[in-house]
Amino acid sequence: MCGIMGYNGNKNAIPIVINGLKSLEYRGYDSSGIAYFFNNNIKVIKEKGRISELEKLISDDKSNLCIGHTRWATHGSPNRINAHPHNVGSVTIVHNGIIENYHELKNKLIKDGYKFKSETDTEVACALIDSIYQKKKDKLKTLIEIQTILKGSYAFLIIFNDEKTIYALRHGSPLIIAESSIGNLIASDIPAILEYTKEYYLLEEGEIAEIKEDNIIFYQEGKEIKKDKLIFEHDLSSAKKEGYSHFMLKEIYEQPKVIDNFLKYYFENFNLIPDIRNYKKIHIVACGSAYHAGLLGKVFLEEYLDFNVIVETSSEYRYSKPFIDKDTLVILISQSGETADTLAAMRLAKEKGAKTLGIVNVIGSSLARECDDVIYINAGPEIAVATTKAYTLQVLTLSLIAFKLGINLNKITKEEQDIIKNDYLLISKEIKKLLKEDYQDLVNKIYKKEHIFFIGRLMDYYSCLEGSLKLKEISYIHSETYPAGELKHGTISLIEDNTPIIGIATDDNIYEKTISNIKEVKARGAYVILLKRNDLKVEETVYDKLINIPKKNNLVMPIITIIPLQLIAFEVAKKLGYDIDKPRNLAKSVTVE
Ligand code: F6R
Repeated sequence: MCGIMGYNGNKNAIPIVINGLKSLEYRGYDSSGIAYFFNNNIKVIKEKGRISELEKLISDDKSNLCIGHTRWATHGSPNRINAHPHNVGSVTIVHNGIIENYHELKNKLIKDGYKFKSETDTEVACALIDSIYQKKKDKLKTLIEIQTILKGSYAFLIIFNDEKTIYALRHGSPLIIAESSIGNLIASDIPAILEYTKEYYLLEEGEIAEIKEDNIIFYQEGKEIKKDKLIFEHDLSSAKKEGYSHFMLKEIYEQPKVIDNFLKYYFENFNLIPDIRNYKKIHIVACGSAYHAGLLGKVFLEEYLDFNVIVETSSEYRYSKPFIDKDTLVILISQSGETADTLAAMRLAKEKGAKTLGIVNVIGSSLARECDDVIYINAGPEIAVATTKAYTLQVLTLSLIAFKLGINLNKITKEEQDIIKNDYLLISKEIKKLLKEDYQDLVNKIYKKEHIFFIGRLMDYYSCLEGSLKLKEISYIHSETYPAGELKHGTISLIEDNTPIIGIATDDNIYEKTISNIKEVKARGAYVILLKRNDLKVEETVYDKLINIPKKNNLVMPIITIIPLQLIAFEVAKKLGYDIDKPRNLAKSVTVE
C-alpha cells in the first residue's frame, strides 16, 4: 500500500527514486509521482497509472534530491491531481497512511485562506505543515507540533523550498532509512534499498529524521539521538525473480526450501516455540490469508485443548467486545507486521491485559516489536501481493505450537511424536511432487467461468477459504466457499450444468460426509474437482478431476493441500493474461484500516 522512496546524495536522484519505486510496485498502487529540486525550485511530476506512464513525462533534468511515491487511492479517485507529491506554500510531501481528522483540519485551513486542488488528506497535512512553519519558522518544531495534531496513520517525506534536506517521520506506516555508497536513501520497504546496501535504520514512531546529502540526524522529542543499524539477512536474489516469470510463481516454488529451513531451525530450537499450555483463553486475530491460517490454528490447537479457540478478523476484533483477561493469549498473525487492523487489535489486547504473541515475517516490523512475544516465520521477502509461502509458514507455525502443546499436555505419546515429526520432515518432498503435476486440463475447464464454488468441512473448509481467496484475487473470477454441509441451505440453487465445484476431503473423520455433499452437487450437473487424501476411497462417478493429497497427520495435511490450489489460481490468472503479481485494487501491506 503506497510506496515511498527518497534520495539525497551526490548522484542523479531521479533514476534512483524511480528504480526504488519500481521495486515497491508489489505494494499495490494506481498513480505515482516525484518531486525534486531543480534550479532552486521544487518540480513535481505525477501521473495516473503505472510508473511507466510517469516515466514518459520525465525529462533529462538532473537533481541530487528527489522524493517519490506510488499511491494506492484512499481519499479521492486515482487521478493525476490526487497523486503525490503534494505541494502547498513552502512544503512538498509524500504520504503513506490516512489522516483521520483531515476534514476538520481542512475546514480550519480554508478559513485561514488555504485553497485545495485535490481531494486528498495528504494535501491537508501538507497545508498544515506549511501553516505551522509560517508561524514557527523552525522545521523541527513544526514537525514536532504536527505530530500532536494529526490523527490516523502516516509515513511522510517532507521537503521545504529553502533547504536541500528530506525530513521523515511516521506514525503507523513504516519507513526505513539507509546510508549507502551512493548517498542517503529512505523507503517504505527493504527492496527499494537492497541494490545499494543491506544496512538500514528503522524509523520509530515519534522520531524525526533529517536526511541531508552527506549526513542523517535522528531526533526524538526534539533531541538528537543515536540509533542502531539493522542488517537485512537475506541475499539480494530473495527480492528478485531469478528466472521465474512472476514473483508469485517463484514464491510458490520456494515453499519446500523455506519450510525445510523453518523446520530445521525450530526443531533445533524447540524452546523458541511458545509453550501456551497455561492459558485459559486463546484468541487468534489476523486479516485475509493470515486469518485463514488462524482458522487452521484453531483446528490444530483444539485437538489438545479443553476449551474453544476464538478466531476473528482484526477489523472486527478491534471494534468488538472481546472478553480478555490476564489468562488470555492473543495470537496475531501478519506477514508484513504492519497491517493497521492487526496492530490495533494487538494494542487493544495489550490494553486489556492479555499476553500477545505475534507470528510475523518481516523482521523488526511494528507487530514484531510490540507483541510480548514473537515467532518469526522466516519466509524471506514476499513480493507478490497474493501470499503463498508466508501463508504456508503461518500454518506450519501454528501447527508446531499445537504440536508442542500436545506434547506438554501429554496428549501425544512418544511414538506419535516420532510419526508426526517424520510427517513434518516429509512436507517439502510431497510439495515438490505436487508442484510437478500438470493442472492445465482443469485450468482450461474453469478459466472462462464466472463463478466457482469451494466446499469442505472443518480444516478442509478453511483450506477452501484460502484456495478461493487466491483464485479470486488474481483471476477476478467470482468464487465462494461453503462448509460442505451448508451448501444445500440456499446456495445449491446456483449449481447448474458445468458449474465448477472444488471440493476438499482430506479429513478421514468426516470424509464420507463431505463426499455425500459432493455427490449432491454432482447430481445437479456440477463440474467437480476433488482434492482428497490418497488413501481414502471414492467412486469415479463422484468427480471430473481428481487430485490426490498424500496421507499425513492432520497437523500437516493443510500445508500440503493448499499447494495445488495456489498453482491452479496462478495458472488461471496467467491464462487470462492478468497482472498476477500486482492484482487490481490490492495492496501488499494494508497500513490503513
Ligand atoms: C491474500 C493476502 C492478504 C493478506 C492480508 C494480511 O493473498 O495476501 O489477504 O494475507 O492482507 O496481510 P498481513 O499478513 O501482512 O497482515
